[in-house]
Amino acid sequence: MSITRFLTGITTTGTPHLGNYVGALRPAVQASRRPGTENFYFLADYHALIKCDEPARMQRSTLEIAACWLAIGLDPDQVFFYRQSDIPEIPELTWLLTCVTGKGVLNRAHAYKASVDKNHAAGAETDADVTAGLFMYPVLMAADILMFKAHKIPVGRDQVQHIEMARDMASSFNHLYGEHLVLPEAAVDDSVALLPGTDGRKMSKSYDNVIALFAPREVMRKQIAGIVTDSRAPGEPKETQGSALFQIYEAFASKDETEAFRKAFEAGISWADAKQQLFERIDHEIAPMREKYDALVGNPAQLEQILKAGAERARSRATPFMNELREAVGLRNLASTPAAKKDKAAKSALPSFKQYREADGRHYFKLVDASGRLLAQSTGFDSPQDAGRVIGQLKRNEAGAAQGQLSLADGVSQNDVDTALATLAAS
Ligand code: TRP
Repeated sequence: MSITRFLTGITTTGTPHLGNYVGALRPAVQASRRPGTENFYFLADYHALIKCDEPARMQRSTLEIAACWLAIGLDPDQVFFYRQSDIPEIPELTWLLTCVTGKGVLNRAHAYKASVDKNHAAGAETDADVTAGLFMYPVLMAADILMFKAHKIPVGRDQVQHIEMARDMASSFNHLYGEHLVLPEAAVDDSVALLPGTDGRKMSKSYDNVIALFAPREVMRKQIAGIVTDSRAPGEPKETQGSALFQIYEAFASKDETEAFRKAFEAGISWADAKQQLFERIDHEIAPMREKYDALVGNPAQLEQILKAGAERARSRATPFMNELREAVGLRNLASTPAAKKDKAAKSALPSFKQYREADGRHYFKLVDASGRLLAQSTGFDSPQDAGRVIGQLKRNEAGAAQGQLSLADGVSQNDVDTALATLAAS
């Protein structure tokens, strides 16, 4: 079975709340245990530097966010857990990608465009207060992803454009220098729970309605006590529908517990008791993590050591791959053998289709990669023309062309085939 690599970048700003925990952190830690996957989680501190110019806050946030992920159960021995700024190959790859990225492409990035629109609306100059760092954000992010040959990037909708840009940069690079980079895909999970905040709107720092994940116990109790409810008196049946309190409970409880809570609502539990039960249920899950979190934050040297070990593992992949990429673009030892022949091979060696006829009298084709490895086989066609037409569609990488026409060879992933087709289409 081929391995699928997942990669998640964690911005090292802000203080995580229960909404982040339920919607992102908890599912990510669960996902890190799937068999057949490799999982990369890194602290995107170079990205944080774009927004934060306070050194002490940079350091503190990185400490807290690292502690948070470990406290909720990310196992640094099972996954690649590292700090972006510990991997010098990432800025190095950023430059190689910068050189194959159109400036116009970056002009269209949402984050940059939002700044420009704001400036225009305020009558300011187009690029007022826009750093080149903000402008280059998508290239740095592409380097994060491409450095580790990640296949799937779990992100929110707002980040999909960035993944598509990374894909385009990888295609451009591969087209110029041969098949080196893996084309990543965004994995958007729309089923993730949206937790309401204490005022019933989506829990979000900007609404000031959050319940902090690792605040002290008594702070959490107070924040839960602040959840808005209606004015029904003790003994009166309560609505579960539309109740933020009930929805938050549901995000932490088992089916049976939720059912029992629903019954208690019908039976007229007082809001005070309901809040107490909610607090206890959440605290039951969070308390052991909070203890671990406090211990980690109190021992920065241990955290530093964990991150350094993670960086070493990550670099065992990044260093040789970066060497390969330097070689590919011609940043080479001057005494190494003239590589003209090799370069030509890199450019001309493309995936290809081979048509043939089987004993059953039907016409087939197969797709092989640049080195001749079998990637996929077609179903049978009545005539060579029929087979050729599908090949033509595949070569132009027309959406849906391969639908039901190709079966993957052993050990080949859909991503391998997609990459080969994209390369052909771009050639
Ligand atoms: N831009 C991402 C965010 O704001 C963080 C990030 C940086 C990232 N590099 C990444 C996410 C690489 C996924 C992959 O959430």
